[in-house]
Amino acid sequence: MAGAGGVPPTGGTPYIPIRTGPAAGRLFVPSSEMSVDRSAFDRILAELRQRHSTGKVDARAAFRADPRRFARLSATDGDMLLDWSKCAVDDATMDLLGKLAAAAGMEARRDAMFAGAPINVTEDRAVLHTALRAPGRHEPDIDGHDIGADVASVLDAMSAFANAIRSGEARGATGKAITDIVNIGIGGSDLGPVMVTLALAPWHDGPRAHYVSNIDGAHIHDTLKGLDPETTLVIVASKTFTTVETMTNARTAKSWIEKALGKEAVAHHFAAVSTALDLVAAFGITPERVFGFWDWVGGRYSVWGAIGLPVMIAIGPQRFRDMLAGAHEMDTHFRTAPLSSNLPALLGLVGWWHRVVCGYPSRAVIPYDQRLSRLPAYLQQLDMESNGKSTSLDGTPVTTPTGPLVWGEPGTNGQHAFFQLLHQGTDIIPVEFLVAANGHEPELRHQHDLLLANCLAQSEALMKGRTLEEARAQMLAKGMDLAKVDRIAPHRVFSGNRPSITILYRSLDPATLGRLVALYEHRVFVEGVLYNINSFDQWGVELGKELATQLLPVVEGKENAAGRDASTAGLVKHILGLREK
Ligand code: F6P
Repeated sequence: MAGAGGVPPTGGTPYIPIRTGPAAGRLFVPSSEMSVDRSAFDRILAELRQRHSTGKVDARAAFRADPRRFARLSATDGDMLLDWSKCAVDDATMDLLGKLAAAAGMEARRDAMFAGAPINVTEDRAVLHTALRAPGRHEPDIDGHDIGADVASVLDAMSAFANAIRSGEARGATGKAITDIVNIGIGGSDLGPVMVTLALAPWHDGPRAHYVSNIDGAHIHDTLKGLDPETTLVIVASKTFTTVETMTNARTAKSWIEKALGKEAVAHHFAAVSTALDLVAAFGITPERVFGFWDWVGGRYSVWGAIGLPVMIAIGPQRFRDMLAGAHEMDTHFRTAPLSSNLPALLGLVGWWHRVVCGYPSRAVIPYDQRLSRLPAYLQQLDMESNGKSTSLDGTPVTTPTGPLVWGEPGTNGQHAFFQLLHQGTDIIPVEFLVAANGHEPELRHQHDLLLANCLAQSEALMKGRTLEEARAQMLAKGMDLAKVDRIAPHRVFSGNRPSITILYRSLDPATLGRLVALYEHRVFVEGVLYNINSFDQWGVELGKELATQLLPVVEGKENAAGRDASTAGLVKHILGLREK
């Protein structure tokens, strides 16, 4: 591991040991982190809070007063546009946010990440998912490995395997071509490929891709029910190869294949993606069908490498590489664009402003793009597993709120479900709209026009709102009697000035998807820097896993619930009473 044992990696940012906190003398942090100017940060934060409490920007009035507001509060990278002009910020806010990023050492921390510094300090790991989308290019050495070459060789092996499956050169045990792939994984080993498979449906010309994640036997049962073992390839995707859900489902799938085709068929019908090559071998998957990745790739950042194998089989290696190229383009933009036009930095700064200064506890991500229907779920893991923390880098409690609740559904469906609350509820929830200027079906252009009109209408309505006078005038104009107008009008008032961000792109193709996902990854990074936390560990998921292991024999009736809290013991008693023999 780079930097372990006090030895700095060659080149890149120098490291110095942490001198304070529980990790003192053990972990290493980039020296850049030491350049955080905490007192400047706190001063700017206080100034931002003061501005928010005393001089709130009213976006409606601001648009009326300034015809250049959109031009000044939007930015582009190629054909991708980020518009945050409907948020309650002005030039002075943005200026202060820029100073805040500087005080937090954001650029230095970003450079440390790209340089391979072990910025995941609680696991003593580098964070280099960005290297996965720059195959073969020079990247930092980790443990003496040229990781650019390692990445390229795994990608080549994946491509060869994907081509063999797609062409029918690699077949099932009985000689039939593979028509269906079942990816078994969970969290980062599932959400990325699921999201991308749906997003790139128009490019899908390989075997059908199915995904099983839940420990609930219903998931694998219902998936396998419609499939033919002779023509099915199972990919077991698990970074650790120990995750209970994945290993349990993998064993179920293995016995499904063995029952139908015999034990020897497993070699023809299984592949694996993991960092734990020894455990994969013990499971019985042949080494030529095992695709590795590395501990410097977090699960929720892993779709760019071997975890993307089902996507690559579905859409083909070239389109997969197009997606990587798009993400690499966004990496370059994030590394090099000035703050004033740096899309991930701006998205992060405005997100942080909403969460910390305005105190909004959640944000909705609403793709007006049916094929991005799983993007909100993907972003939930990316954002909430990364920034749902309450301990600062130095081990002390955080001093500001951290990551918001992230949720969403595609538009226009959401309009007919929860948008009521977005427009008139008592909480303010910033919304992030994503929409393409063009649909993928030219013959359905009129439907895409409707989609665009709805997307724009929602952000406009959230910002503009409707006053009581406007509501009354509208009702009177329709000939409603005065008594009814007086009674109903208050219910038809929209407070307005509700913030939203719009991300607009030409069309959803593999490269654009890569750019979008990388944009969000870096946004999460920027916010994590401002929260002063480690965005790359996930200790918060451990406790539940440990307790589930303890509770299994209890729900099986093999151990009693003595010593557990009364609620858990009561629930176990009821479960056992309801169990069918
Ligand atoms: O939920 C915790 C987690 O560790 C995620 O971070 C990860 O993506 C998921 O479990 C799956 O882990 P693995 O790929 O090791 O099976």
